[in-house]
Amino acid sequence: MYYSDDVIEEVRSRNDIVDVISGYVKLQRKGSSYFGLCPFHSEKSPSFSVSRDKQMYYCFGCGAGGNVLSFIMEYENFSFPEALKMLADRAGMALPEPEYSAEARRQRDLKESVREINKMAANYFYYMLRSPQGERALQYLMNRGLTEGTIKRFGLGYAGQYSDALYKYLKGKGISDQLLRESGLMQVNEKHGMYDKFWNRVMFPILDVNNKVIGFGGRVMGDGKPKYLNSPETVIFDKSRNLYGLNYARTAKKRYMLVCEGYMDVISMHQAGFTNAVASLGTALTSQHATLLKRYTDEVILTYDSDEAGVRAALRAIPLLKEAGISTKVLHMEPYKDPDEFIKALGTEAFQERIDRAENSFLFEVSVLQKSYDMKDPDSKTRFFQEVAAKIAGLELEIERENYIEAITGRYQISFEGLRRMVMNVLMQGVPARKAPVARQQARPEKDDGIRRSQRLILTWITEYPQLFDTISRYIHPQDFSDELYREVAAMLYAQKEKGAVNPAQIISHFADSEQQRTVAQLFNTEVKLESPKEMEKAVQETIYKVAEQVIAQKSRELDPTDMKGLQELVDAKKRLPEIRRLHISL
Ligand code: CTP
Ligand code: MN
Repeated sequence: MYYSDDVIEEVRSRNDIVDVISGYVKLQRKGSSYFGLCPFHSEKSPSFSVSRDKQMYYCFGCGAGGNVLSFIMEYENFSFPEALKMLADRAGMALPEPEYSAEARRQRDLKESVREINKMAANYFYYMLRSPQGERALQYLMNRGLTEGTIKRFGLGYAGQYSDALYKYLKGKGISDQLLRESGLMQVNEKHGMYDKFWNRVMFPILDVNNKVIGFGGRVMGDGKPKYLNSPETVIFDKSRNLYGLNYARTAKKRYMLVCEGYMDVISMHQAGFTNAVASLGTALTSQHATLLKRYTDEVILTYDSDEAGVRAALRAIPLLKEAGISTKVLHMEPYKDPDEFIKALGTEAFQERIDRAENSFLFEVSVLQKSYDMKDPDSKTRFFQEVAAKIAGLELEIERENYIEAITGRYQISFEGLRRMVMNVLMQGVPARKAPVARQQARPEKDDGIRRSQRLILTWITEYPQLFDTISRYIHPQDFSDELYREVAAMLYAQKEKGAVNPAQIISHFADSEQQRTVAQLFNTEVKLESPKEMEKAVQETIYKVAEQVIAQKSRELDPTDMKGLQELVDAKKRLPEIRRLHISL
């Protein structure tokens, strides 16, 4: 950390979160919290809450959350020191000289430096595009139909003609070889030493959601190979956690996101007004991408290339998105290859029409499946419907199954009753339908989620009803929580309570990573929808019981059978379980 915890805590506590956020979001009081429209995702009814007691915000819609510092960082796109400075100013505080702890400083400095170098490179490429050397590159982009405004908005550039231009430029700015090596912008070999990774290419800077340059894609002008070169992963560039165009798409205020394959596709779509388009960075979509997307939307329309690779990519993406809670549709681009070509050929309206007609992902999967069967051959046709029935049987809800049976009946030659009977057969035989392993896999995290949710409730209640702490801490200890992060947070919360009062907002300051801050905010903002105090008290009791019971179960699974002392402890803990049911809990 640059600043001591005391300084951070003082700045935080001198800026009341309700006052600060009121300057950005219209808040209305509801019970002990304030509510407003979330500034981090698009919504019509308020699910963004701010608590004066906890000095935290949390959005029940998109999961954004944190303390006053995280809010300023996220809203203003500020780095931590910038946010701290702004809030210190607001409170009329002078910040002391920053402190540097060796390892933290090294990592932080490395990231800051690599970020700085990538930014310098982006500026350099941008400048080169407009220099005489860049004429051909600029022409190339214009020929591809990009307007000046678009080129500027996406910060496109040109990496000079020579393979040491950027190297020389950055050396001229005093950057060490060691940092250059970390930047992802250089290549090293024994014969030539260090030289530019990108040269004579059109450059696409890749920005993170905070509009910071984290890497580049570079395209040859014409048919050379490889068509695109990309920055390797660096301390600031993780391909599986960033999406090209998300910095703009996150504020597009659309119900869904368009996910495509390429840089040019994103840019073309944005230029045509589809500013909710993103692409993964020369890699397949990952589950981290899906989680990232889920923050901003519940629906994705895949606009992958219409070739076989695009279909395969869609088939892989659909289950990942589903697992993240996103429903998916597939846009058909035929007869064009990708969104860029489609829009160029048929225009915006035609593209919007394709969006409106995008196919439900389940039916898309079925239609891909159908292609490998010969529907004129009775045996083959039977096998196809058996596969479809197995797939439908894998769906969880009866109503879902009925709806898909109906949809399939409308598309293929089979009667509703006929297909329903096949589905019933699969369900009754318990034949491990193709889908079944997946369904089972999904069931497990759900159960885990139940436990995690109970654990979050425990932490939330400790902050909301400190009088419960003594009871809770008798049965549940910080090390009993299932995740590393939960344990860390619980330990801090328990320590605070033992010393005096809880201070959840201060705990958030311990986590530098915004992803972690979000999770911590969620830990302190888990709700049950219960009206009467009686019901609440019952729920508290049940939850303590559930968590305590689970801890015992977990421990007994892990117990070394020769550990007599451990066994005795477990037996004692188990004996005390019924006690919980007799606790008198009063809120
Ligand atoms: N890609 C890559 N390396 C390559 C080829 C492609 O990283 N050698 C990635 C790029 O992110 C690219 C995306 O895959 O944008 C899609 O590739 P492709 O469909 O071949 O290119 P287009 O996006 O259509 O690019 P263009 O229109 O410029 O030909
Ligand atoms: Mn293309």
